[in-house]
Amino acid sequence: MNIQENFSISQLTTMRLGGAARYLIEIEKEADLGPAYEFAGNHQLPTYILGDGSNVIGRDEGFAGVVMLNRLKGIEPISEDSDKLIVRVATGEELDALVDYAVAGDWYGAEALAAIPGTVGGAVMQNAGAYGQEMSQILVGVDAYDTQTGELIHIPVDELALCYRHSIFNSDGPDSVKGRYFIVAARVRLHRTEIQGELYGSLQAYLLENDITDRRAKTIRDAVTNIRTQKLPDSTVMASSGSFFKNITIDEADIEPLRAQYPGIPIFLIGNCWEVASGWLIEQAGLKGKLLHGMRVSDKAALILINESADSYEDLCRARAEIIAAVEEKFGFRLEQEPEEI
Ligand code: EPU
Repeated sequence: MNIQENFSISQLTTMRLGGAARYLIEIEKEADLGPAYEFAGNHQLPTYILGDGSNVIGRDEGFAGVVMLNRLKGIEPISEDSDKLIVRVATGEELDALVDYAVAGDWYGAEALAAIPGTVGGAVMQNAGAYGQEMSQILVGVDAYDTQTGELIHIPVDELALCYRHSIFNSDGPDSVKGRYFIVAARVRLHRTEIQGELYGSLQAYLLENDITDRRAKTIRDAVTNIRTQKLPDSTVMASSGSFFKNITIDEADIEPLRAQYPGIPIFLIGNCWEVASGWLIEQAGLKGKLLHGMRVSDKAALILINESADSYEDLCRARAEIIAAVEEKFGFRLEQEPEEI
Protein backbone atom coordinates (compact mmCIF):
# COMPACT_ATOMS: atom_id res chain seq x y z
CA MET A 1 0.00 0.00 0.00
CA ASN A 2 1.45 3.27 -1.15
CA ILE A 3 1.08 6.12 1.39
CA GLN A 4 2.17 9.63 0.49
CA GLU A 5 2.35 12.63 2.78
CA ASN A 6 1.33 16.25 2.19
CA PHE A 7 -0.02 15.68 -1.30
CA SER A 8 -1.39 18.70 -3.13
CA ILE A 9 -5.19 18.51 -3.58
CA SER A 10 -4.88 20.96 -6.42
CA GLN A 11 -3.09 18.23 -8.41
CA LEU A 12 -5.88 15.75 -7.66
CA THR A 13 -8.81 17.95 -8.71
CA THR A 14 -9.68 19.38 -12.11
CA MET A 15 -10.42 22.89 -10.75
CA ARG A 16 -6.77 22.87 -9.58
CA LEU A 17 -7.25 24.68 -6.30
CA GLY A 18 -6.56 23.74 -2.71
CA GLY A 19 -3.84 23.04 -0.17
CA ALA A 20 -2.37 19.68 0.80
CA ALA A 21 -3.91 16.44 2.05
CA ARG A 22 -2.06 15.15 5.11
CA TYR A 23 -1.93 11.63 3.61
CA LEU A 24 -2.86 10.10 0.28
CA ILE A 25 -3.45 6.36 -0.18
CA GLU A 26 -4.05 4.81 -3.58
CA ILE A 27 -6.68 2.06 -3.44
CA GLU A 28 -5.72 -0.32 -6.24
CA LYS A 29 -7.60 -3.43 -5.09
CA GLU A 30 -10.45 -4.12 -2.70
CA ALA A 31 -8.01 -5.73 -0.24
CA ASP A 32 -6.28 -2.33 0.21
CA LEU A 33 -9.37 -0.94 1.93
CA GLY A 34 -8.96 -2.72 5.28
CA PRO A 35 -5.36 -1.57 5.86
CA ALA A 36 -6.07 1.93 4.48
CA TYR A 37 -8.96 2.57 6.88
CA GLU A 38 -6.99 0.96 9.69
CA PHE A 39 -4.19 3.46 9.01
CA ALA A 40 -6.66 6.36 9.17
CA GLY A 41 -8.20 4.93 12.36
CA ASN A 42 -4.83 4.46 14.02
CA HIS A 43 -3.96 8.09 13.28
CA GLN A 44 -7.48 9.22 14.27
CA LEU A 45 -7.86 11.03 10.99
CA PRO A 46 -10.95 11.64 8.85
CA THR A 47 -11.02 10.18 5.35
CA TYR A 48 -12.19 11.44 1.98
CA ILE A 49 -12.59 9.36 -1.20
CA LEU A 50 -11.47 10.90 -4.48
CA GLY A 51 -11.84 9.58 -8.01
CA ASP A 52 -10.72 11.91 -10.79
CA GLY A 53 -11.52 14.98 -8.69
CA SER A 54 -13.64 16.31 -11.54
CA ASN A 55 -16.42 17.48 -9.25
CA VAL A 56 -14.52 18.33 -6.07
CA ILE A 57 -13.05 21.67 -5.04
CA GLY A 58 -10.02 21.87 -2.74
CA ARG A 59 -9.97 24.53 -0.02
CA ASP A 60 -6.87 26.57 0.74
CA GLU A 61 -6.39 25.05 4.21
CA GLY A 62 -6.08 21.56 2.70
CA PHE A 63 -7.39 18.38 4.32
CA ALA A 64 -6.07 17.21 7.68
CA GLY A 65 -6.92 13.60 6.97
CA VAL A 66 -6.42 10.70 4.58
CA VAL A 67 -7.49 10.96 0.94
CA MET A 68 -8.35 7.52 -0.45
CA LEU A 69 -7.71 7.66 -4.16
CA ASN A 70 -9.98 5.22 -5.95
CA ARG A 71 -8.01 3.26 -8.57
CA LEU A 72 -10.26 0.17 -8.62
CA LYS A 73 -10.62 -1.12 -12.18
CA GLY A 74 -12.62 -3.73 -14.07
CA ILE A 75 -15.89 -4.16 -15.96
CA GLU A 76 -17.32 -7.69 -15.84
CA PRO A 77 -20.59 -9.08 -17.18
CA ILE A 78 -22.63 -10.80 -14.46
CA SER A 79 -25.61 -12.06 -16.41
CA GLU A 80 -27.01 -11.71 -19.88
CA ASP A 81 -30.14 -12.66 -21.73
CA SER A 82 -31.60 -11.57 -25.05
CA ASP A 83 -32.77 -8.17 -23.80
CA LYS A 84 -30.63 -7.29 -20.82
CA LEU A 85 -27.07 -7.35 -19.56
CA ILE A 86 -25.98 -6.82 -15.99
CA VAL A 87 -22.41 -5.66 -15.48
CA ARG A 88 -20.34 -5.06 -12.40
CA VAL A 89 -18.18 -1.97 -12.86
CA ALA A 90 -15.40 -1.04 -10.45
CA THR A 91 -15.96 2.52 -9.27
CA GLY A 92 -12.45 3.70 -10.21
CA GLU A 93 -13.30 3.13 -13.89
CA GLU A 94 -14.04 6.20 -15.98
CA LEU A 95 -17.76 6.58 -16.58
CA ASP A 96 -16.88 6.92 -20.25
CA ALA A 97 -15.29 3.44 -20.18
CA LEU A 98 -18.66 2.04 -19.11
CA VAL A 99 -20.39 3.99 -21.89
CA ASP A 100 -17.92 2.63 -24.47
CA TYR A 101 -18.33 -0.91 -23.15
CA ALA A 102 -22.12 -0.64 -23.47
CA VAL A 103 -22.04 0.93 -26.91
CA ALA A 104 -19.56 -1.67 -28.24
CA GLY A 105 -22.07 -4.42 -27.42
CA ASP A 106 -25.05 -2.42 -28.78
CA TRP A 107 -26.46 -2.15 -25.29
CA TYR A 108 -28.54 0.88 -24.34
CA GLY A 109 -29.00 2.96 -21.21
CA ALA A 110 -25.64 4.72 -20.83
CA GLU A 111 -25.07 6.29 -24.27
CA ALA A 112 -26.24 9.81 -23.32
CA LEU A 113 -23.81 9.79 -20.36
CA ALA A 114 -20.90 9.89 -22.81
CA ALA A 115 -17.93 12.18 -22.18
CA ILE A 116 -18.94 13.14 -18.63
CA PRO A 117 -15.61 13.59 -16.88
CA GLY A 118 -15.00 11.45 -13.83
CA THR A 119 -15.29 7.97 -12.46
CA VAL A 120 -18.20 5.59 -11.99
CA GLY A 121 -17.92 6.12 -8.22
CA GLY A 122 -18.47 9.85 -8.56
CA ALA A 123 -21.33 9.27 -11.00
CA VAL A 124 -23.11 6.95 -8.55
CA MET A 125 -22.49 9.17 -5.55
CA GLN A 126 -24.13 12.19 -7.15
CA ASN A 127 -26.48 10.40 -9.57
CA ALA A 128 -24.82 11.95 -12.61
CA GLY A 129 -27.08 12.61 -15.55
CA ALA A 130 -27.07 14.30 -18.91
CA TYR A 131 -29.06 14.54 -22.14
CA GLY A 132 -32.04 12.64 -20.79
CA GLN A 133 -30.31 9.75 -19.00
CA GLU A 134 -29.36 9.40 -15.37
CA MET A 135 -27.41 6.81 -13.36
CA SER A 136 -30.60 6.06 -11.38
CA GLN A 137 -32.17 4.56 -14.53
CA ILE A 138 -29.47 1.92 -15.03
CA LEU A 139 -28.20 1.17 -11.53
CA VAL A 140 -29.29 -2.07 -9.90
CA GLY A 141 -27.28 -1.44 -6.75
CA VAL A 142 -23.77 -1.01 -5.42
CA ASP A 143 -21.20 -3.16 -3.65
CA ALA A 144 -19.78 -1.12 -0.81
CA TYR A 145 -17.13 -1.56 1.86
CA ASP A 146 -18.60 -0.61 5.22
CA THR A 147 -15.85 1.24 7.08
CA GLN A 148 -17.59 0.61 10.41
CA THR A 149 -17.70 -3.21 10.14
CA GLY A 150 -15.02 -3.90 7.52
CA GLU A 151 -17.57 -5.93 5.49
CA LEU A 152 -18.45 -5.76 1.83
CA ILE A 153 -22.20 -5.38 1.42
CA HIS A 154 -24.65 -4.94 -1.43
CA ILE A 155 -27.01 -1.96 -1.30
CA PRO A 156 -29.92 -2.15 -3.77
CA VAL A 157 -30.77 0.93 -5.81
CA ASP A 158 -34.06 1.61 -4.01
CA GLU A 159 -32.09 2.19 -0.79
CA LEU A 160 -29.80 4.80 -2.36
CA ALA A 161 -32.36 7.67 -2.40
CA LEU A 162 -31.23 8.78 -5.84
CA CYS A 163 -32.63 12.03 -7.16
CA TYR A 164 -31.18 15.10 -8.91
CA ARG A 165 -27.40 15.08 -8.11
CA HIS A 166 -28.18 13.39 -4.82
CA SER A 167 -27.81 10.01 -3.05
CA ILE A 168 -27.44 8.69 0.50
CA PHE A 169 -23.69 8.98 -0.03
CA ASN A 170 -23.59 12.76 -0.46
CA SER A 171 -26.49 13.96 1.64
CA ASP A 172 -26.27 15.52 5.06
CA GLY A 173 -28.91 15.24 7.73
CA PRO A 174 -29.68 13.02 10.70
CA ASP A 175 -29.58 9.73 8.70
CA SER A 176 -26.47 10.69 6.75
CA VAL A 177 -24.12 7.85 5.83
CA LYS A 178 -21.60 10.26 4.28
CA GLY A 179 -18.10 8.86 4.70
CA ARG A 180 -19.29 5.49 6.01
CA TYR A 181 -19.06 3.46 2.79
CA PHE A 182 -16.45 3.11 0.09
CA ILE A 183 -18.43 2.12 -3.00
CA VAL A 184 -16.28 -0.50 -4.73
CA ALA A 185 -18.53 -1.42 -7.64
CA ALA A 186 -21.73 -0.43 -9.35
CA ARG A 187 -24.09 -3.05 -10.75
CA VAL A 188 -25.63 -1.69 -13.89
CA ARG A 189 -28.46 -3.01 -16.07
CA LEU A 190 -28.26 -2.30 -19.80
CA HIS A 191 -30.98 -3.15 -22.30
CA ARG A 192 -31.70 -3.57 -26.00
CA THR A 193 -34.19 -0.71 -26.43
CA GLU A 194 -33.13 2.67 -27.75
CA ILE A 195 -34.21 5.95 -26.06
CA GLN A 196 -37.97 6.35 -26.45
CA GLY A 197 -40.05 9.50 -26.79
CA GLU A 198 -38.85 13.08 -26.97
CA LEU A 199 -35.10 13.63 -26.81
CA TYR A 200 -33.35 16.22 -24.61
CA GLY A 201 -33.64 19.59 -26.43
CA SER A 202 -30.04 20.25 -27.43
CA LEU A 203 -29.52 16.60 -28.43
CA GLN A 204 -32.60 16.69 -30.66
CA ALA A 205 -31.41 19.97 -32.19
CA TYR A 206 -27.96 18.48 -32.90
CA LEU A 207 -29.44 15.42 -34.61
CA LEU A 208 -31.75 17.58 -36.75
CA GLU A 209 -28.94 19.94 -37.77
CA ASN A 210 -26.78 17.01 -38.79
CA ASP A 211 -29.54 15.03 -40.55
CA ILE A 212 -29.18 12.13 -38.15
CA THR A 213 -32.33 10.07 -37.90
CA ASP A 214 -31.38 6.90 -36.00
CA ARG A 215 -31.05 6.54 -32.24
CA ARG A 216 -28.54 3.72 -32.08
CA ALA A 217 -26.37 3.73 -28.98
CA LYS A 218 -23.27 4.63 -30.98
CA THR A 219 -25.07 7.47 -32.79
CA ILE A 220 -26.27 9.02 -29.53
CA ARG A 221 -22.90 8.49 -27.82
CA ASP A 222 -21.09 10.25 -30.69
CA ALA A 223 -23.63 13.09 -30.84
CA VAL A 224 -23.43 13.74 -27.09
CA THR A 225 -19.63 13.58 -27.20
CA ASN A 226 -19.60 16.20 -29.97
CA ILE A 227 -22.02 18.50 -28.13
CA ARG A 228 -20.00 18.26 -24.93
CA THR A 229 -16.70 18.81 -26.73
CA GLN A 230 -18.05 22.00 -28.31
CA LYS A 231 -19.48 23.35 -25.08
CA LEU A 232 -17.55 22.02 -22.11
CA PRO A 233 -13.96 22.86 -21.29
CA ASP A 234 -11.44 20.07 -21.79
CA SER A 235 -10.17 19.51 -18.25
CA THR A 236 -6.73 18.52 -19.54
CA VAL A 237 -6.40 22.04 -20.95
CA MET A 238 -8.62 24.24 -18.76
CA ALA A 239 -9.16 23.97 -15.02
CA SER A 240 -12.87 23.47 -14.36
CA SER A 241 -15.39 21.25 -12.58
CA GLY A 242 -18.07 21.26 -15.29
CA SER A 243 -21.38 22.73 -14.13
CA PHE A 244 -20.52 24.82 -11.09
CA PHE A 245 -24.11 25.40 -9.96
CA LYS A 246 -27.10 23.09 -9.77
CA ASN A 247 -30.17 23.88 -11.76
CA ILE A 248 -33.02 25.30 -9.64
CA THR A 249 -35.69 22.80 -8.67
CA ILE A 250 -39.20 24.27 -8.71
CA ASP A 251 -42.76 23.06 -8.12
CA GLU A 252 -45.01 22.41 -11.10
CA ALA A 253 -47.32 25.21 -9.90
CA ASP A 254 -44.47 27.73 -10.30
CA ILE A 255 -44.05 27.08 -14.03
CA GLU A 256 -46.87 29.25 -15.41
CA PRO A 257 -46.13 32.35 -13.29
CA LEU A 258 -42.42 32.07 -14.14
CA ARG A 259 -43.13 31.77 -17.88
CA ALA A 260 -45.45 34.76 -17.66
CA GLN A 261 -42.84 36.86 -15.88
CA TYR A 262 -39.80 35.70 -17.88
CA PRO A 263 -40.76 34.70 -21.42
CA GLY A 264 -38.23 32.18 -22.77
CA ILE A 265 -37.12 30.89 -19.37
CA PRO A 266 -35.92 27.30 -19.93
CA ILE A 267 -37.78 24.88 -17.64
CA PHE A 268 -37.32 21.11 -17.98
CA LEU A 269 -38.60 17.95 -16.38
CA ILE A 270 -35.50 15.99 -15.31
CA GLY A 271 -36.38 12.62 -13.77
CA ASN A 272 -39.33 13.69 -11.66
CA CYS A 273 -38.10 17.22 -10.85
CA TRP A 274 -38.99 20.45 -12.65
CA GLU A 275 -35.85 22.52 -13.14
CA VAL A 276 -35.01 26.04 -14.23
CA ALA A 277 -31.72 26.20 -16.20
CA SER A 278 -29.30 28.10 -13.99
CA GLY A 279 -27.03 28.74 -17.01
CA TRP A 280 -29.80 30.88 -18.48
CA LEU A 281 -30.24 32.79 -15.21
CA ILE A 282 -26.51 33.56 -15.07
CA GLU A 283 -26.49 34.61 -18.72
CA GLN A 284 -29.51 36.88 -18.22
CA ALA A 285 -27.80 38.41 -15.19
CA GLY A 286 -25.13 39.57 -17.65
CA LEU A 287 -22.30 37.36 -16.41
CA LYS A 288 -21.64 35.04 -19.34
CA GLY A 289 -17.99 35.33 -20.42
CA LYS A 290 -17.05 37.60 -17.49
CA LEU A 291 -13.79 37.18 -15.56
CA LEU A 292 -14.33 37.45 -11.80
CA HIS A 293 -11.33 37.14 -9.47
CA GLY A 294 -9.51 34.88 -11.95
CA MET A 295 -12.59 32.69 -12.55
CA ARG A 296 -14.11 32.84 -16.03
CA VAL A 297 -17.84 32.33 -16.49
CA SER A 298 -17.65 30.25 -19.68
CA ASP A 299 -18.75 32.10 -22.78
CA LYS A 300 -20.14 28.83 -24.16
CA ALA A 301 -22.18 27.69 -21.15
CA ALA A 302 -22.65 30.11 -18.29
CA LEU A 303 -23.11 27.32 -15.72
CA ILE A 304 -19.45 26.48 -16.08
CA LEU A 305 -16.67 28.27 -14.23
CA ILE A 306 -13.12 28.01 -15.48
CA ASN A 307 -10.17 28.69 -13.21
CA GLU A 308 -8.14 30.89 -15.52
CA SER A 309 -5.93 32.70 -13.03
CA ALA A 310 -7.43 32.34 -9.54
CA ASP A 311 -4.72 32.25 -6.90
CA SER A 312 -6.75 30.48 -4.30
CA TYR A 313 -10.03 28.99 -3.17
CA GLU A 314 -10.71 32.44 -1.64
CA ASP A 315 -10.78 33.91 -5.16
CA LEU A 316 -13.31 31.27 -6.17
CA CYS A 317 -15.43 32.16 -3.13
CA ARG A 318 -15.48 35.82 -4.15
CA ALA A 319 -16.49 34.99 -7.72
CA ARG A 320 -19.15 32.56 -6.48
CA ALA A 321 -20.62 35.15 -4.09
CA GLU A 322 -20.89 37.74 -6.87
CA ILE A 323 -22.66 35.32 -9.23
CA ILE A 324 -25.08 34.16 -6.53
CA ALA A 325 -25.86 37.77 -5.56
CA ALA A 326 -26.44 38.91 -9.16
CA VAL A 327 -28.85 36.03 -9.90
CA GLU A 328 -30.65 36.44 -6.60
CA GLU A 329 -31.10 40.14 -7.16
CA LYS A 330 -32.53 39.69 -10.65
CA PHE A 331 -34.63 36.54 -10.20
CA GLY A 332 -34.93 35.83 -6.48
CA PHE A 333 -33.42 32.33 -6.96
CA ARG A 334 -30.47 31.34 -4.81
CA LEU A 335 -27.95 29.26 -6.77
CA GLU A 336 -26.36 26.29 -5.04
CA GLN A 337 -22.89 24.98 -5.76
CA GLU A 338 -22.81 21.63 -7.54
CA PRO A 339 -19.28 20.29 -6.82
CA GLU A 340 -18.42 19.02 -3.36
CA GLU A 341 -15.61 20.51 -1.32
CA ILE A 342 -12.85 18.72 0.48
N1 EPU B 1 -28.56 28.05 -21.27
C1 EPU B 1 -28.46 29.41 -21.50
N2 EPU B 1 -27.24 29.99 -21.32
C2 EPU B 1 -26.15 29.29 -20.98
C3 EPU B 1 -26.25 27.90 -20.72
C4 EPU B 1 -27.49 27.30 -20.87
O1 EPU B 1 -29.42 30.08 -21.84
O2 EPU B 1 -25.09 29.90 -20.90
C5 EPU B 1 -29.85 27.38 -21.50
C6 EPU B 1 -29.78 26.52 -22.74
O3 EPU B 1 -30.07 27.26 -23.90
C7 EPU B 1 -30.83 25.47 -22.45
C8 EPU B 1 -30.76 25.33 -20.95
O4 EPU B 1 -30.11 26.49 -20.45
O5 EPU B 1 -32.11 25.94 -22.81
C9 EPU B 1 -30.03 24.06 -20.49
O6 EPU B 1 -28.70 24.10 -20.95
P1 EPU B 1 -27.85 22.79 -21.24
O7 EPU B 1 -28.62 21.82 -22.06
O8 EPU B 1 -26.54 23.25 -21.76
O9 EPU B 1 -27.68 22.10 -19.85
P2 EPU B 1 -27.38 22.66 -18.37
O10 EPU B 1 -28.67 22.79 -17.64
O11 EPU B 1 -26.49 23.85 -18.44
C10 EPU B 1 -27.20 20.27 -17.33
C11 EPU B 1 -26.25 19.54 -16.43
C12 EPU B 1 -25.01 19.14 -17.22
C13 EPU B 1 -25.47 18.24 -18.37
C14 EPU B 1 -26.45 19.02 -19.24
C15 EPU B 1 -27.05 18.19 -20.36
C16 EPU B 1 -26.55 20.37 -14.18
C17 EPU B 1 -26.01 21.22 -13.09
N3 EPU B 1 -25.86 20.39 -15.33
O12 EPU B 1 -26.54 21.47 -17.74
O13 EPU B 1 -24.18 18.38 -16.36
O14 EPU B 1 -24.36 17.85 -19.14
O15 EPU B 1 -27.56 19.47 -18.42
O16 EPU B 1 -27.96 17.28 -19.86
O17 EPU B 1 -27.54 19.68 -13.98
C18 EPU B 1 -22.42 18.69 -14.80
O18 EPU B 1 -23.21 18.35 -13.93
O19 EPU B 1 -21.21 18.99 -14.53
C19 EPU B 1 -22.87 18.80 -16.15
C20 EPU B 1 -22.08 19.28 -17.13
